[in-house]
Amino acid sequence: MAKTGVRLAGDHGIAMTGLGSVNAITESPERSDGTFILMPGWQSNAKKKGLRTVAFHVSLVGRSDLSGEIYRQIRQAILDGRLRPGERLSPTRELAAALRVSRSTVTVAYENLLAEGFATSQTGAGTFVSHQLEAKRPASKARRPPVRAIAVRGVWQTISPPTTFDRADFDFRTGLPDASLFPHRAWRRVVARALRSREMTEGVYENPAGNWDLRVAITRHIGISRSVSASPDDILVTSGTQQALDIIARVLLEPGDVVAVEKPGYLPPKYLFKALGARVIGVPVDSEGLVVEALPARARAVYVTPSHQYPLGVAMSLSRRRALLAWAERNNAVVVEDDYDSEFRFGGRPLEPLQALDSTGRVVYVGTFSKTLLPTLRLGFMVVPPALREAAIKAKHITDWHTTTIVQSALARFIDEGAFARHIRRMSRIYGERHQTLTAAIKRNFGDYLDLVPSSTGLHVAAYARGASVGHIDAIVSRAFDLGVAVHLFGVGEDPQAGIMLGYGAIETPRIAEGLQRVRRCFDERLSRHLKAA
Ligand SMILES: Cc1ncc(COP(=O)(O)O)c(C=O)c1O
Repeated sequence: MAKTGVRLAGDHGIAMTGLGSVNAITESPERSDGTFILMPGWQSNAKKKGLRTVAFHVSLVGRSDLSGEIYRQIRQAILDGRLRPGERLSPTRELAAALRVSRSTVTVAYENLLAEGFATSQTGAGTFVSHQLEAKRPASKARRPPVRAIAVRGVWQTISPPTTFDRADFDFRTGLPDASLFPHRAWRRVVARALRSREMTEGVYENPAGNWDLRVAITRHIGISRSVSASPDDILVTSGTQQALDIIARVLLEPGDVVAVEKPGYLPPKYLFKALGARVIGVPVDSEGLVVEALPARARAVYVTPSHQYPLGVAMSLSRRRALLAWAERNNAVVVEDDYDSEFRFGGRPLEPLQALDSTGRVVYVGTFSKTLLPTLRLGFMVVPPALREAAIKAKHITDWHTTTIVQSALARFIDEGAFARHIRRMSRIYGERHQTLTAAIKRNFGDYLDLVPSSTGLHVAAYARGASVGHIDAIVSRAFDLGVAVHLFGVGEDPQAGIMLGYGAIETPRIAEGLQRVRRCFDERLSRHLKAA
């Protein structure tokens, strides 16, 4: 079958098809692999008149009834809303040239559209999608292929879908910073500068490891605030923690390799490792953090949150940290240290990160800006030990080339100018106050139900619910949601001991007391009778 079309040459020899500029069409020759991407594009005189000409995809397969084919495809696009009333169809001459058909072939197609009221024409201005289409538009006729047409790997059946949360009046969700206190003005300024940066103006792909200035700034920041020793060459900028873990897994794990994670623990890494073909084994956590003796000897990697265990909030003791590093050395394993929110500390002495204690190059330290700034920025980083560096950069490269450069440049300046450190100081004060208000209220008002887990770091605390099952807490959490309060539950162990997590990143200090009173009401309704009977 004769097929013609348009090919756009991407950077680095990658062939891309897609919607682009009209220049790309005029320069691009035919391609041989199938569909057309037709881009009538933006015409210069249309631009002058302020008319919008629509880029539209026409696929011509075969050589018979070309007018009919063009007519039918445009008509269908009008009916299903891809072409909207008032939009201008590309001029017949250009459509004919791009499709390599005669102009009269396109004219016939347009005349049919005009005759049936799908299009209107204005002398000298062109052909437009008609405004009088409502009566013609059928209920949705979008083609819906069967959901099970393609089998996905079984592992996806075992992975929960992303949770979306409606905002609650009293928001104790974990892992959220206070977005209302984000320094918008300072951020806007650095983003505006970044838009004028070399990376933007040159418009070429950048180093997968990340913007150099940002790597320098991160090195200084973690050196000062966490005594992590690194050079900018060790830093790889990622789209959040989750991508750092993805890269680590790609460079380390063969299918079937064992990865140890904390139990209870943060679920996204567990799902990620499973999805990449690893065997994930949960290892218990006690008041000193991960129980090192319970680690499976054949684990290739161990994922831990030692500064502020998620969800329980405990800090891993120094002796456990040492034991974990010794274990990793003995078993030739890699330790992935997720230090996600330890910039916020409200007491106690900071413990050395595993990365700083490690002398064997087995720790990958992962940090994020999701808590210190905003999760929507999707910015994180890792300190990669020398043995993994080259592979990690290649993995980042083949995953997404590099993290968006505007945000990287903006953040580099934001840190350099001291705005980041100022923001952390300010937020530490505010979160410290919330931590104090929340923990005092729990101790004062929930003595009969909850045992608070001691914790003085990060953006959430956890509390075990005495004598309650996961089912009870689940009922309490949903009842709380009905009363306008968002809290999370956790369950620990084979015969799970349940509890709740209370985040204070997203709730203002004056609202904490009222929110907790409502939670208390839910405990009274759902648990007090059960406890009395027990
Ligand atoms: C344990 C833990 N690690 C990391 C993150 C942050 O992940 P990301 O940097 O991908 O936003 C969170 C967010 O809630 C978390 O709870």
